[in-house]
Amino acid sequence: MKIIRTTRSMAAWSERLRREGVTIGFVPTMGALHDGHRSLIRAARLRCDALVVSIFVNPAQFSPTEDLSAYPRPIARDRALCREEGVDVCFEPTALTMYPEGFQTTVTVPVLARRWEGEARPHHFAGVATVVTKLFGIVHPHLALFGQKDYQQAALVRQLVGDLNLGVTIQVRPTVREQDGLAMSSRNVYLSTDERRIAPLLSQALQAGKQMIVGGMLDVAAIERVMRQTIEQAPTIHVEYLAVCDPDSLEPLSVVSAPAVLLGAVRIGSIRLIDNLLVKLPGGKSGLRVERGIKPLTD
Ligand code: PAJ
Repeated sequence: MKIIRTTRSMAAWSERLRREGVTIGFVPTMGALHDGHRSLIRAARLRCDALVVSIFVNPAQFSPTEDLSAYPRPIARDRALCREEGVDVCFEPTALTMYPEGFQTTVTVPVLARRWEGEARPHHFAGVATVVTKLFGIVHPHLALFGQKDYQQAALVRQLVGDLNLGVTIQVRPTVREQDGLAMSSRNVYLSTDERRIAPLLSQALQAGKQMIVGGMLDVAAIERVMRQTIEQAPTIHVEYLAVCDPDSLEPLSVVSAPAVLLGAVRIGSIRLIDNLLVKLPGGKSGLRVERGIKPLTD
């Protein structure tokens, strides 16, 4: 496995392979890799001839009060996971490589970024959209994989790729969970034993909401109330939002109609956890087209 740190060598590597007709898969990450990242890497490995994983803790998507300097950076372990999964290139730029002096362009997706995570973290999605656009420009992949875990992020990436004609196929893969339902996240390591014990309440609340919709409940307020009550069993979890939304626009629904996506964010101590669940129409549309099987690149 090659480790590349400069944008110039990364771009040159990709261009050489593209000229030879090789398909390039790409999984952008901030490192601290876990089985959620692994599932994206495996899916890309199966679909493409060559595979690039980027590891870059992007300062532009953290606010000054967030955990940029504390964000876990177990680089040796991350590289070992990449090697194990047959990654060809680990792209590890520095912050100065990505944002040299004089850098001034920002990509925003204002409507999709307005609510939910965008409201809680005002500059977050501009940071994500800008770095993803840059990474696509440097790596120039045919296919890039994202996790449903960050549903709003995946929706925004699809939107910007379409709006800016970036020519990258985006695939969204299902959320990988711990046995008790907690969505895997690089930030779960921050949870104390007591916090970790109650953290699965978020996914349980979303499951409870999904069951109500599947059972025919159309009253959004009633669904949101049950989801909130599920979480409030533990007085130390604070609900930031729990909502029943349109899976494409992410606007809140006033009356439930499947497909829908249930979005949730909670705070446990100083740690924010997010999660979501899709509710599909039987045999119908399913929001971000989360793909469980591996399909040919031309689908
Ligand atoms: P990061 O949090 O490292 O996540 C990288 C990718 O892994 C994202 O697409 C995310 O949705 C996916 N992922 C995380 N946890 C997952 C889980 N439990 N199951 C499935 N997929 C999961 O998201 C980012 O980094 C950054 O914002 C990035 C896109 C790299 C831009 O900086």
